[in-house]
Amino acid sequence: MPITVSAPGKLMLLGEHAVVYGHPCLVTTVNQRMRVAVEKLSPSILTLEAEDVELIGYKKPIRKLGKGKIPKRAMFIEIAMRNFFYKYSIQSGLNVITKSEFSPQFGFGSSSAVTVCLIKALSELFKINLTLQEIFDLSYKTISDIQKEGSGFDAAAAIYGGTLYFTAGGKIIEPLPIDELNLVVGYSGVKADTVSMINLLKEKIYTYKSGVEKIFDKIADLVKEAKKSLLSKDWIRFGTLMNFNQDYLEDLGLSTEKLGSMILAARKAGVYGAKLSGAGGGDCMIALVTPENKKQVATAIERVGGEIVEVTTNVEGVKSEK
Ligand code: PMV
Repeated sequence: MPITVSAPGKLMLLGEHAVVYGHPCLVTTVNQRMRVAVEKLSPSILTLEAEDVELIGYKKPIRKLGKGKIPKRAMFIEIAMRNFFYKYSIQSGLNVITKSEFSPQFGFGSSSAVTVCLIKALSELFKINLTLQEIFDLSYKTISDIQKEGSGFDAAAAIYGGTLYFTAGGKIIEPLPIDELNLVVGYSGVKADTVSMINLLKEKIYTYKSGVEKIFDKIADLVKEAKKSLLSKDWIRFGTLMNFNQDYLEDLGLSTEKLGSMILAARKAGVYGAKLSGAGGGDCMIALVTPENKKQVATAIERVGGEIVEVTTNVEGVKSEK
């Protein structure tokens, strides 16, 4: 019997980019999940099917894990497996099947979610008890081995679920006791490339360090404020802080015309606040709404060409499936 594990996608609420430089962020999880099934194989090979990214019949000898040419679509599974096997001195053939409820285009963190699922599934298959922090450490190592950049907020979201106050590398992972957040999510139709957006910002830091750092400090400040408003359900304040965060992201050159027009449309339809979510340069925008005006806001976003992604937020983290 294969072991199946699932983990949620994520949405950055506030604090993107600044979080890479040691500042805090707020992240929530969505009810669209990644699923990974694993079972042992007697030949000493990895076989992988990842339909969502059109990877069928991928094979690799276990002794060559992480070596040679690895297709991008197999990268996170193969490196996570290599890291797990190395850490726990395991050698075994493995069949892996991944299936996602969300498109890898949305920026919901499919790479992190698949990494987290695989590590959790392997810990069950080989009966190694791992704490959430240990799953995070191995997932973060895997993501860092591949991407070099990144705070790890997406892995933490996939593992812990709910809504988190987070700082880079998982130094702080604080689950916040809140209910669902009413968000409308609009996809801009463009896939963002996180690493190139991080690099874009690096160039800006190189040319105008003190200016960028001042903006990061302001973002850090509003994230701390927003945490308080989240806990006290002060949605007016939280929405205002989202708007301010969007302004700072625009100052940093991270928004796009399309994201901007979707955000404007949402604001005109009467939201608490709206901003891009994630790396910028594409992916999704989010708007904080009431249950009553949700539909109206979604329609306004669609009118300017956004694609609505239906989600509920603040959902359970990584878990075994029956
Ligand atoms: O591209 P996304 O949606 O995973 O968001 C990236 C957020 C950054 O702060 C830019 C990167 C990070 O790892 O924190």
